[in-house]
Amino acid sequence: MLTFEVLLTVGLFFWIYFLWNRRRLYMLLMKLPGPMGLPILGSALNYVVFHKMRMRLRIKYMDQYGSTFLAWLGPKPIVITRDPNIAKEVLLSSECLNRSSQVTAPFAVSVGHGLFSMEAQRWMERRKQMNPTFKHSNLTSFLPIFNAEVNTLMTVLDSYVGQGEKKILHDIIRWSFRVATQTTVGTDVQQEEAFQNDTVMKSYESLLKLFTLDVIVSITRNKIISKLVGVEAKKTLHASNINNVISKIIDNKLNSEPESGAGAEFKSVINRSIDLYRKGEMPLDQVRAECFLMVAAAFETSGLTVCHTLTLLAMFPEYQDTVYEELKDIFPNAGEFEVTYEDIRKMVYLERVLNESLRLIPSIPLAPRETIQDFRLSNGVVIPKGVSIGICIFSTHRNKEFWGPDAEKFNPDNFLPDNVRDRHPYAYIPFTKGKRNCIGWQYGIMSSKLALAKILRNYKVSTSFRYEDLDFVDNIGMVLAQQPGIEFQRRT
Ligand code: HEM
Repeated sequence: MLTFEVLLTVGLFFWIYFLWNRRRLYMLLMKLPGPMGLPILGSALNYVVFHKMRMRLRIKYMDQYGSTFLAWLGPKPIVITRDPNIAKEVLLSSECLNRSSQVTAPFAVSVGHGLFSMEAQRWMERRKQMNPTFKHSNLTSFLPIFNAEVNTLMTVLDSYVGQGEKKILHDIIRWSFRVATQTTVGTDVQQEEAFQNDTVMKSYESLLKLFTLDVIVSITRNKIISKLVGVEAKKTLHASNINNVISKIIDNKLNSEPESGAGAEFKSVINRSIDLYRKGEMPLDQVRAECFLMVAAAFETSGLTVCHTLTLLAMFPEYQDTVYEELKDIFPNAGEFEVTYEDIRKMVYLERVLNESLRLIPSIPLAPRETIQDFRLSNGVVIPKGVSIGICIFSTHRNKEFWGPDAEKFNPDNFLPDNVRDRHPYAYIPFTKGKRNCIGWQYGIMSSKLALAKILRNYKVSTSFRYEDLDFVDNIGMVLAQQPGIEFQRRT
Protein backbone atom coordinates (compact mmCIF):
# COMPACT_ATOMS: atom_id res chain seq x y z
CA MET A 1 0.00 0.00 0.00
CA LEU A 2 2.81 2.31 1.01
CA THR A 3 4.63 1.49 -2.23
CA PHE A 4 1.50 2.35 -4.23
CA GLU A 5 1.24 5.74 -2.47
CA VAL A 6 4.90 6.45 -3.09
CA LEU A 7 4.51 5.52 -6.77
CA LEU A 8 1.42 7.70 -7.04
CA THR A 9 3.22 10.67 -5.46
CA VAL A 10 6.27 10.24 -7.71
CA GLY A 11 3.98 9.85 -10.75
CA LEU A 12 2.05 12.97 -9.78
CA PHE A 13 5.27 14.87 -9.25
CA PHE A 14 6.54 13.95 -12.75
CA TRP A 15 3.15 14.78 -14.29
CA ILE A 16 3.19 18.25 -12.73
CA TYR A 17 6.84 18.68 -13.79
CA PHE A 18 5.87 17.65 -17.36
CA LEU A 19 2.95 20.12 -17.43
CA TRP A 20 5.11 22.89 -15.92
CA ASN A 21 7.77 22.36 -18.58
CA ARG A 22 5.13 22.69 -21.29
CA ARG A 23 3.45 25.76 -19.72
CA ARG A 24 4.59 28.08 -22.52
CA LEU A 25 3.05 25.69 -25.01
CA TYR A 26 -0.29 25.78 -23.23
CA MET A 27 -0.15 29.58 -23.16
CA LEU A 28 0.47 29.49 -26.90
CA LEU A 29 -2.50 27.13 -27.30
CA MET A 30 -4.68 29.69 -25.53
CA LYS A 31 -3.48 32.53 -27.78
CA LEU A 32 -3.58 30.68 -31.10
CA PRO A 33 -6.59 28.58 -32.03
CA GLY A 34 -6.35 25.59 -34.35
CA PRO A 35 -7.49 22.00 -34.92
CA MET A 36 -6.78 19.56 -32.07
CA GLY A 37 -4.51 16.60 -32.88
CA LEU A 38 -4.55 13.02 -31.64
CA PRO A 39 -1.88 12.00 -29.08
CA ILE A 40 1.39 10.98 -30.86
CA LEU A 41 -0.11 11.22 -34.37
CA GLY A 42 -1.14 14.88 -34.12
CA SER A 43 -3.18 15.87 -37.17
CA ALA A 44 -1.45 13.31 -39.39
CA LEU A 45 -4.32 10.81 -39.64
CA ASN A 46 -6.84 13.45 -40.64
CA TYR A 47 -4.38 15.09 -43.00
CA VAL A 48 -2.82 12.09 -44.76
CA VAL A 49 -5.63 9.52 -44.71
CA PHE A 50 -8.85 11.53 -44.81
CA HIS A 51 -7.70 14.59 -46.75
CA LYS A 52 -4.90 13.04 -48.85
CA MET A 53 -2.61 15.98 -47.96
CA ARG A 54 -4.67 18.46 -49.93
CA MET A 55 -3.81 22.13 -49.62
CA ARG A 56 -7.48 23.02 -49.30
CA LEU A 57 -7.58 21.60 -45.74
CA ARG A 58 -4.94 24.12 -44.63
CA ILE A 59 -6.83 26.93 -46.34
CA LYS A 60 -10.02 25.80 -44.62
CA TYR A 61 -8.25 26.03 -41.25
CA MET A 62 -7.00 29.53 -42.07
CA ASP A 63 -10.49 30.66 -43.03
CA GLN A 64 -11.82 29.08 -39.82
CA TYR A 65 -9.12 30.03 -37.28
CA GLY A 66 -7.48 33.08 -38.86
CA SER A 67 -4.31 33.75 -40.86
CA THR A 68 -2.11 32.32 -38.12
CA PHE A 69 -3.10 29.08 -36.38
CA LEU A 70 -1.64 26.18 -34.41
CA ALA A 71 -1.53 22.61 -35.78
CA TRP A 72 0.16 19.39 -34.66
CA LEU A 73 2.79 17.53 -36.69
CA GLY A 74 2.89 14.24 -34.84
CA PRO A 75 3.24 15.15 -31.14
CA LYS A 76 4.86 18.54 -31.89
CA PRO A 77 3.06 21.83 -32.41
CA ILE A 78 3.59 24.01 -35.48
CA VAL A 79 2.42 27.59 -35.94
CA ILE A 80 1.24 28.11 -39.52
CA THR A 81 0.82 31.56 -41.04
CA ARG A 82 -0.15 33.29 -44.28
CA ASP A 83 0.45 36.75 -42.85
CA PRO A 84 3.31 38.59 -44.64
CA ASN A 85 3.96 40.68 -41.52
CA ILE A 86 4.64 37.58 -39.47
CA ALA A 87 6.63 36.05 -42.36
CA LYS A 88 8.82 39.15 -42.32
CA GLU A 89 9.39 39.01 -38.56
CA VAL A 90 10.28 35.32 -38.71
CA LEU A 91 12.49 35.42 -41.79
CA LEU A 92 14.47 38.43 -40.57
CA SER A 93 14.96 37.14 -37.05
CA SER A 94 18.20 35.47 -35.96
CA GLU A 95 16.07 33.51 -33.47
CA CYS A 96 14.31 31.68 -36.32
CA LEU A 97 17.34 30.79 -38.43
CA ASN A 98 16.99 27.06 -37.80
CA ARG A 99 15.02 25.06 -40.33
CA SER A 100 12.41 22.99 -38.46
CA SER A 101 13.97 19.79 -37.10
CA GLN A 102 10.75 17.99 -38.13
CA VAL A 103 11.88 18.53 -41.71
CA THR A 104 15.66 18.28 -41.39
CA ALA A 105 15.78 15.19 -39.15
CA PRO A 106 14.83 12.62 -41.84
CA PHE A 107 17.50 14.07 -44.15
CA ALA A 108 20.11 14.25 -41.37
CA VAL A 109 19.54 10.61 -40.33
CA SER A 110 19.92 9.19 -43.86
CA VAL A 111 22.27 11.70 -45.47
CA GLY A 112 24.11 13.67 -42.77
CA HIS A 113 24.34 17.43 -42.43
CA GLY A 114 24.70 20.02 -45.16
CA LEU A 115 23.69 23.64 -45.70
CA PHE A 116 20.02 22.64 -45.92
CA SER A 117 19.87 20.87 -42.55
CA MET A 118 22.52 22.58 -40.38
CA GLU A 119 21.63 24.43 -37.22
CA ALA A 120 22.14 28.21 -37.22
CA GLN A 121 25.62 28.42 -35.71
CA ARG A 122 27.29 25.97 -38.09
CA TRP A 123 25.01 27.01 -40.94
CA MET A 124 26.30 30.62 -41.00
CA GLU A 125 29.86 29.51 -41.68
CA ARG A 126 28.72 26.96 -44.27
CA ARG A 127 26.58 29.50 -46.12
CA LYS A 128 29.61 31.79 -46.41
CA GLN A 129 31.63 28.84 -47.71
CA MET A 130 29.03 27.90 -50.36
CA ASN A 131 28.04 31.43 -51.50
CA PRO A 132 30.81 31.73 -54.17
CA THR A 133 29.29 28.80 -56.08
CA PHE A 134 26.06 30.77 -56.52
CA LYS A 135 27.64 34.05 -57.57
CA HIS A 136 26.32 35.41 -60.84
CA SER A 137 29.63 34.96 -62.71
CA ASN A 138 29.70 31.30 -61.73
CA LEU A 139 26.07 30.68 -62.63
CA THR A 140 26.57 31.97 -66.17
CA SER A 141 29.28 29.35 -66.62
CA PHE A 142 26.53 26.71 -66.18
CA LEU A 143 24.76 27.99 -69.32
CA PRO A 144 26.27 25.33 -71.66
CA ILE A 145 24.84 22.59 -69.38
CA PHE A 146 21.45 24.36 -69.19
CA ASN A 147 21.34 24.68 -73.00
CA ALA A 148 22.46 21.14 -73.78
CA GLU A 149 19.98 19.51 -71.41
CA VAL A 150 16.97 21.46 -72.73
CA ASN A 151 17.92 20.24 -76.20
CA THR A 152 17.79 16.67 -74.85
CA LEU A 153 14.39 17.37 -73.30
CA MET A 154 13.08 18.84 -76.56
CA THR A 155 13.84 15.67 -78.51
CA VAL A 156 11.35 13.95 -76.15
CA LEU A 157 8.76 16.74 -76.39
CA ASP A 158 9.10 16.71 -80.17
CA SER A 159 8.01 13.08 -80.23
CA TYR A 160 4.73 14.20 -78.56
CA VAL A 161 3.73 16.45 -81.47
CA GLY A 162 0.50 15.16 -82.98
CA GLN A 163 0.09 12.60 -80.17
CA GLY A 164 -2.65 14.40 -78.19
CA GLU A 165 -2.28 15.39 -74.52
CA LYS A 166 0.74 13.97 -72.68
CA LYS A 167 1.76 14.07 -69.01
CA ILE A 168 5.16 15.75 -69.04
CA LEU A 169 6.16 16.09 -65.37
CA HIS A 170 8.43 13.04 -65.52
CA ASP A 171 10.26 14.33 -68.62
CA ILE A 172 10.72 17.78 -67.10
CA ILE A 173 11.95 16.36 -63.78
CA ARG A 174 14.45 14.25 -65.74
CA TRP A 175 15.73 17.45 -67.39
CA SER A 176 16.07 19.31 -64.08
CA PHE A 177 17.70 16.32 -62.40
CA ARG A 178 20.34 16.03 -65.13
CA VAL A 179 21.04 19.76 -64.89
CA ALA A 180 21.19 19.79 -61.06
CA THR A 181 23.51 16.77 -60.91
CA GLN A 182 25.95 18.04 -63.51
CA THR A 183 26.17 21.54 -62.04
CA THR A 184 26.66 20.09 -58.55
CA VAL A 185 29.01 17.10 -58.98
CA GLY A 186 30.34 17.90 -62.44
CA THR A 187 29.78 16.53 -65.92
CA ASP A 188 31.80 13.36 -65.07
CA VAL A 189 28.54 11.97 -63.72
CA GLN A 190 27.47 11.36 -67.33
CA GLN A 191 29.85 8.37 -67.40
CA GLU A 192 28.01 6.64 -64.54
CA GLU A 193 25.60 3.86 -65.50
CA ALA A 194 23.26 4.69 -62.62
CA PHE A 195 22.98 8.24 -64.01
CA GLN A 196 22.48 7.10 -67.62
CA ASN A 197 19.71 4.63 -66.73
CA ASP A 198 18.01 7.04 -64.29
CA THR A 199 18.55 4.80 -61.22
CA VAL A 200 19.93 7.72 -59.16
CA MET A 201 17.06 9.97 -60.17
CA LYS A 202 14.48 7.34 -59.21
CA SER A 203 16.23 6.86 -55.86
CA TYR A 204 16.08 10.61 -55.18
CA GLU A 205 12.37 10.69 -56.05
CA SER A 206 11.58 7.70 -53.82
CA LEU A 207 13.65 9.05 -50.95
CA LEU A 208 11.93 12.45 -51.07
CA LYS A 209 8.54 10.69 -50.84
CA LEU A 210 9.69 8.63 -47.84
CA PHE A 211 11.10 11.73 -46.13
CA THR A 212 7.79 13.54 -46.66
CA LEU A 213 6.05 10.75 -44.78
CA ASP A 214 8.65 11.04 -41.99
CA VAL A 215 7.99 14.78 -41.72
CA ILE A 216 4.24 14.42 -41.38
CA VAL A 217 4.02 11.16 -39.43
CA SER A 218 7.17 11.64 -37.37
CA ILE A 219 6.93 8.21 -35.68
CA THR A 220 8.11 6.58 -38.95
CA ARG A 221 11.48 8.27 -38.31
CA ASN A 222 12.01 5.81 -35.49
CA LYS A 223 14.16 2.99 -36.95
CA ILE A 224 12.15 0.20 -35.29
CA ILE A 225 8.80 1.54 -36.53
CA SER A 226 10.33 2.31 -39.91
CA LYS A 227 11.47 -1.35 -40.12
CA LEU A 228 8.08 -2.62 -38.97
CA VAL A 229 6.21 -0.70 -41.67
CA GLY A 230 8.76 -1.81 -44.27
CA VAL A 231 10.30 1.53 -45.26
CA GLU A 232 13.72 1.36 -43.57
CA ALA A 233 15.20 -1.02 -46.16
CA LYS A 234 13.95 1.22 -48.97
CA LYS A 235 15.50 4.32 -47.38
CA THR A 236 18.85 2.51 -47.01
CA LEU A 237 18.77 1.19 -50.57
CA HIS A 238 17.96 4.55 -52.18
CA ALA A 239 20.42 6.50 -50.03
CA SER A 240 23.21 4.06 -50.90
CA ASN A 241 22.36 4.16 -54.64
CA ILE A 242 22.93 7.92 -54.53
CA ASN A 243 25.91 7.82 -52.18
CA ASN A 244 27.71 5.23 -54.32
CA VAL A 245 27.71 7.54 -57.33
CA ILE A 246 28.63 10.67 -55.38
CA SER A 247 31.36 8.91 -53.38
CA LYS A 248 32.92 7.49 -56.56
CA ILE A 249 33.12 10.94 -58.13
CA ILE A 250 34.55 12.43 -54.93
CA ASP A 251 37.19 9.64 -54.78
CA ASN A 252 38.17 10.24 -58.40
CA LYS A 253 38.58 13.94 -57.75
CA LEU A 254 40.59 13.34 -54.57
CA ASN A 255 42.92 11.01 -56.46
CA SER A 256 43.63 13.56 -59.16
CA GLU A 257 45.40 16.90 -59.06
CA PRO A 258 43.32 19.78 -57.62
CA GLU A 259 41.66 21.65 -60.47
CA SER A 260 42.62 25.25 -60.94
CA GLY A 261 41.41 28.07 -63.15
CA ALA A 262 38.18 29.92 -63.49
CA GLY A 263 36.09 27.25 -65.30
CA ALA A 264 32.64 26.16 -64.13
CA GLU A 265 33.97 22.83 -62.83
CA PHE A 266 36.33 24.63 -60.47
CA LYS A 267 33.42 26.34 -58.71
CA SER A 268 30.80 23.59 -58.68
CA VAL A 269 29.53 22.50 -55.24
CA ILE A 270 31.73 19.38 -55.33
CA ASN A 271 34.90 21.26 -56.26
CA ARG A 272 34.28 24.02 -53.75
CA SER A 273 33.63 21.41 -51.03
CA ILE A 274 36.70 19.33 -51.92
CA ASP A 275 38.74 22.50 -51.88
CA LEU A 276 37.49 23.22 -48.35
CA TYR A 277 38.17 19.59 -47.34
CA ARG A 278 41.77 19.88 -48.57
CA LYS A 279 42.20 23.01 -46.46
CA GLY A 280 40.78 21.16 -43.43
CA GLU A 281 37.65 23.34 -43.38
CA MET A 282 35.05 20.68 -44.24
CA PRO A 283 34.98 17.02 -43.14
CA LEU A 284 34.80 14.45 -45.95
CA ASP A 285 31.38 13.08 -44.94
CA GLN A 286 29.98 16.61 -45.31
CA VAL A 287 31.43 16.95 -48.82
CA ARG A 288 29.23 13.99 -49.75
CA ALA A 289 26.21 15.28 -47.77
CA GLU A 290 26.52 18.75 -49.31
CA CYS A 291 26.45 17.31 -52.86
CA PHE A 292 23.61 14.93 -51.97
CA LEU A 293 21.43 17.64 -50.44
CA MET A 294 22.18 20.29 -53.05
CA VAL A 295 20.89 18.06 -55.85
CA ALA A 296 17.80 17.26 -53.75
CA ALA A 297 17.13 20.98 -53.15
CA ALA A 298 17.67 21.90 -56.81
CA PHE A 299 16.04 19.39 -59.10
CA GLU A 300 12.44 18.95 -57.93
CA THR A 301 11.93 22.65 -57.29
CA SER A 302 13.20 23.69 -60.73
CA GLY A 303 11.35 20.89 -62.54
CA LEU A 304 8.04 21.68 -60.85
CA THR A 305 8.46 25.38 -61.65
CA VAL A 306 8.88 24.75 -65.38
CA CYS A 307 6.12 22.14 -65.52
CA HIS A 308 3.61 24.35 -63.70
CA THR A 309 4.44 27.39 -65.84
CA LEU A 310 3.88 25.39 -69.03
CA THR A 311 0.62 24.05 -67.60
CA LEU A 312 -0.69 27.53 -66.77
CA LEU A 313 0.30 28.90 -70.18
CA ALA A 314 -1.46 25.95 -71.82
CA MET A 315 -4.58 26.97 -69.88
CA PHE A 316 -4.26 30.68 -70.74
CA PRO A 317 -3.35 30.94 -74.48
CA GLU A 318 -3.68 34.73 -74.55
CA TYR A 319 -0.70 35.09 -72.20
CA GLN A 320 1.20 32.38 -74.07
CA ASP A 321 0.82 34.41 -77.28
CA THR A 322 2.45 37.44 -75.62
CA VAL A 323 5.34 35.26 -74.39
CA TYR A 324 5.71 33.85 -77.90
CA GLU A 325 5.87 37.33 -79.48
CA GLU A 326 8.62 38.31 -77.04
CA LEU A 327 10.59 35.13 -77.77
CA LYS A 328 10.19 35.52 -81.53
CA ASP A 329 11.80 38.94 -81.32
CA ILE A 330 14.80 37.53 -79.46
CA PHE A 331 15.06 34.27 -81.46
CA PRO A 332 13.69 34.86 -84.98
CA ASN A 333 14.38 31.24 -86.00
CA ALA A 334 12.98 28.16 -84.28
CA GLY A 335 15.20 25.12 -83.62
CA GLU A 336 18.22 24.42 -81.41
CA PHE A 337 19.45 27.97 -80.73
CA GLU A 338 21.86 28.76 -77.87
CA VAL A 339 20.46 31.03 -75.14
CA THR A 340 22.92 33.53 -73.62
CA TYR A 341 22.62 35.50 -70.40
CA GLU A 342 21.92 38.63 -72.47
CA ASP A 343 18.96 36.82 -74.07
CA ILE A 344 17.64 35.80 -70.64
CA ARG A 345 17.72 39.43 -69.49
CA LYS A 346 15.56 40.42 -72.44
CA MET A 347 12.74 37.99 -71.45
CA VAL A 348 10.89 40.55 -69.35
CA TYR A 349 7.37 39.27 -70.00
CA LEU A 350 8.39 35.63 -69.56
CA GLU A 351 9.80 36.56 -66.15
CA ARG A 352 6.45 38.13 -65.19
CA VAL A 353 4.71 34.91 -66.23
CA LEU A 354 7.23 32.82 -64.28
CA ASN A 355 6.67 34.94 -61.17
CA GLU A 356 2.91 34.62 -61.51
CA SER A 357 3.22 30.83 -61.85
CA LEU A 358 5.42 30.67 -58.74
CA ARG A 359 2.85 32.80 -56.96
CA LEU A 360 -0.12 30.57 -57.71
CA ILE A 361 1.77 27.26 -57.60
CA PRO A 362 4.93 27.80 -55.51
CA SER A 363 7.23 24.78 -55.88
CA ILE A 364 7.79 24.77 -52.10
CA PRO A 365 4.43 25.42 -50.42
CA LEU A 366 5.68 25.82 -46.84
CA ALA A 367 8.91 27.17 -45.30
CA PRO A 368 9.24 25.62 -41.84
CA ARG A 369 11.53 27.31 -39.32
CA GLU A 370 12.12 26.57 -35.62
CA THR A 371 12.67 29.00 -32.76
CA ILE A 372 16.14 28.95 -31.16
CA GLN A 373 14.84 31.01 -28.20
CA ASP A 374 11.38 32.04 -27.03
CA PHE A 375 10.31 34.38 -29.82
CA ARG A 376 7.89 37.25 -29.27
CA LEU A 377 5.88 38.36 -32.30
CA SER A 378 4.87 42.01 -32.60
CA ASN A 379 1.25 41.00 -31.81
CA GLY A 380 2.44 39.85 -28.36
CA VAL A 381 2.22 36.08 -28.99
CA VAL A 382 5.30 34.27 -27.64
CA ILE A 383 6.39 31.23 -29.64
CA PRO A 384 8.31 29.02 -27.20
CA LYS A 385 11.84 27.79 -27.90
CA GLY A 386 11.89 24.71 -30.16
CA VAL A 387 8.45 25.28 -31.72
CA SER A 388 8.15 25.19 -35.53
CA ILE A 389 6.74 28.12 -37.49
CA GLY A 390 5.59 27.23 -40.99
CA ILE A 391 5.32 30.13 -43.37
CA CYS A 392 2.65 28.96 -45.78
CA ILE A 393 4.00 30.35 -49.03
CA PHE A 394 1.02 28.98 -50.98
CA SER A 395 -1.63 30.81 -48.96
CA THR A 396 0.47 33.95 -48.42
CA HIS A 397 0.55 34.21 -52.22
CA ARG A 398 -3.26 33.97 -52.33
CA ASN A 399 -3.99 36.16 -49.31
CA LYS A 400 -6.79 38.46 -50.52
CA GLU A 401 -5.84 41.13 -48.00
CA PHE A 402 -2.61 41.69 -49.95
CA TRP A 403 -3.49 40.49 -53.47
CA GLY A 404 -7.03 41.81 -53.74
CA PRO A 405 -10.30 40.00 -54.54
CA ASP A 406 -8.80 38.43 -57.72
CA ALA A 407 -5.96 36.79 -55.80
CA GLU A 408 -6.81 33.34 -57.21
CA LYS A 409 -6.72 34.49 -60.86
CA PHE A 410 -3.74 34.01 -63.18
CA ASN A 411 -2.58 37.50 -64.10
CA PRO A 412 1.09 38.20 -64.97
CA ASP A 413 0.36 41.95 -64.64
CA ASN A 414 0.60 41.40 -60.89
CA PHE A 415 4.33 41.71 -61.57
CA LEU A 416 4.29 45.00 -63.45
CA PRO A 417 6.87 47.23 -61.68
CA ASP A 418 4.22 49.59 -60.24
CA ASN A 419 2.22 46.73 -58.77
CA VAL A 420 5.31 45.16 -57.23
CA ARG A 421 6.34 48.49 -55.70
CA ASP A 422 2.97 49.00 -54.02
CA ARG A 423 2.75 45.51 -52.50
CA HIS A 424 3.95 44.18 -49.13
CA PRO A 425 7.49 42.89 -49.84
CA TYR A 426 6.76 39.61 -48.01
CA ALA A 427 3.50 38.89 -49.87
CA TYR A 428 5.56 37.18 -52.61
CA ILE A 429 8.19 34.77 -51.26
CA PRO A 430 8.66 31.68 -53.48
CA PHE A 431 12.34 31.54 -52.45
CA THR A 432 11.57 33.24 -49.11
CA LYS A 433 13.66 36.24 -48.04
CA GLY A 434 16.14 37.09 -45.29
CA LYS A 435 19.48 35.46 -44.48
CA ARG A 436 18.43 31.84 -44.93
CA ASN A 437 16.52 32.20 -48.18
CA CYS A 438 17.08 29.87 -51.13
CA ILE A 439 20.76 29.98 -52.10
CA GLY A 440 19.84 28.80 -55.60
CA TRP A 441 17.15 31.36 -56.46
CA GLN A 442 19.06 33.04 -59.26
CA TYR A 443 20.09 29.66 -60.60
CA GLY A 444 16.43 28.55 -60.45
CA ILE A 445 15.17 31.63 -62.33
CA MET A 446 17.92 31.45 -64.93
CA SER A 447 17.58 27.75 -65.72
CA SER A 448 13.75 27.92 -65.73
CA LYS A 449 13.64 30.94 -68.07
CA LEU A 450 16.11 29.31 -70.40
CA ALA A 451 14.13 26.06 -70.57
CA LEU A 452 10.79 27.84 -71.02
CA ALA A 453 12.21 30.07 -73.75
CA LYS A 454 13.45 27.15 -75.82
CA ILE A 455 10.26 25.15 -75.36
CA LEU A 456 7.79 28.00 -75.94
CA ARG A 457 9.67 29.34 -78.98
CA ASN A 458 9.45 25.89 -80.57
CA TYR A 459 6.03 24.64 -79.43
CA LYS A 460 2.55 25.90 -78.81
CA VAL A 461 1.15 24.16 -75.73
CA SER A 462 -2.52 23.57 -74.94
CA THR A 463 -4.67 21.53 -72.58
CA SER A 464 -8.33 20.68 -72.03
CA PHE A 465 -7.79 20.69 -68.24
CA ARG A 466 -9.48 23.62 -66.52
CA TYR A 467 -7.62 25.94 -64.16
CA GLU A 468 -10.53 25.75 -61.69
CA ASP A 469 -10.05 21.97 -61.42
CA LEU A 470 -6.44 22.13 -60.22
CA ASP A 471 -6.12 20.43 -56.84
CA PHE A 472 -2.93 21.03 -54.86
CA VAL A 473 -1.13 18.42 -52.80
CA ASP A 474 0.91 19.62 -49.85
CA ASN A 475 4.34 18.07 -49.98
CA ILE A 476 7.96 19.11 -49.50
CA GLY A 477 7.68 20.05 -53.18
CA MET A 478 4.14 20.84 -54.29
CA VAL A 479 2.48 18.59 -56.84
CA LEU A 480 -0.92 18.56 -58.48
CA ALA A 481 -3.34 15.81 -57.50
CA GLN A 482 -4.08 15.25 -61.18
CA GLN A 483 -1.40 16.15 -63.70
CA PRO A 484 -3.00 17.95 -66.65
CA GLY A 485 -1.99 16.53 -70.03
CA ILE A 486 -0.27 18.95 -72.43
CA GLU A 487 -0.56 18.92 -76.21
CA PHE A 488 2.38 20.09 -78.34
CA GLN A 489 2.22 21.77 -81.76
CA ARG A 490 5.42 22.75 -83.58
CA ARG A 491 6.06 26.47 -84.25
CA THR A 492 8.18 27.67 -87.15
C1 HEM B 1 12.57 27.58 -58.87
C2 HEM B 1 13.29 26.81 -58.12
C3 HEM B 1 13.43 26.88 -56.63
C4 HEM B 1 12.53 27.25 -55.66
C5 HEM B 1 11.10 27.70 -55.85
C6 HEM B 1 13.22 27.15 -54.38
C7 HEM B 1 12.66 27.46 -53.15
C8 HEM B 1 13.31 27.33 -51.94
C9 HEM B 1 12.72 27.63 -50.67
C10 HEM B 1 11.31 28.14 -50.44
C11 HEM B 1 13.66 27.38 -49.72
C12 HEM B 1 13.47 27.50 -48.20
C13 HEM B 1 13.97 28.84 -47.71
C14 HEM B 1 13.67 29.10 -46.24
O1 HEM B 1 13.61 28.18 -45.45
O2 HEM B 1 13.52 30.27 -45.89
C15 HEM B 1 14.85 26.93 -50.39
C16 HEM B 1 16.03 26.61 -49.75
C17 HEM B 1 17.15 26.13 -50.39
N1 HEM B 1 17.30 25.98 -51.75
FE1 HEM B 1 15.95 26.45 -53.18
N2 HEM B 1 14.49 26.72 -54.60
C18 HEM B 1 14.67 26.55 -55.96
C19 HEM B 1 15.83 26.15 -56.60
C20 HEM B 1 17.00 25.82 -55.98
C21 HEM B 1 18.21 25.44 -56.68
C22 HEM B 1 18.36 25.42 -58.20
C23 HEM B 1 19.15 25.15 -55.71
C24 HEM B 1 20.57 24.73 -55.85
C25 HEM B 1 21.23 24.66 -56.96
C26 HEM B 1 18.51 25.36 -54.42
C27 HEM B 1 19.13 25.15 -53.20
C28 HEM B 1 18.55 25.45 -51.98
C29 HEM B 1 19.23 25.25 -50.72
C30 HEM B 1 20.62 24.65 -50.52
C31 HEM B 1 18.37 25.69 -49.72
C32 HEM B 1 18.67 25.78 -48.24
C33 HEM B 1 19.41 27.11 -48.02
C34 HEM B 1 19.95 27.33 -46.62
O3 HEM B 1 19.47 26.73 -45.69
O4 HEM B 1 20.88 28.15 -46.51
N3 HEM B 1 17.21 25.77 -54.62
N4 HEM B 1 14.62 26.91 -51.75
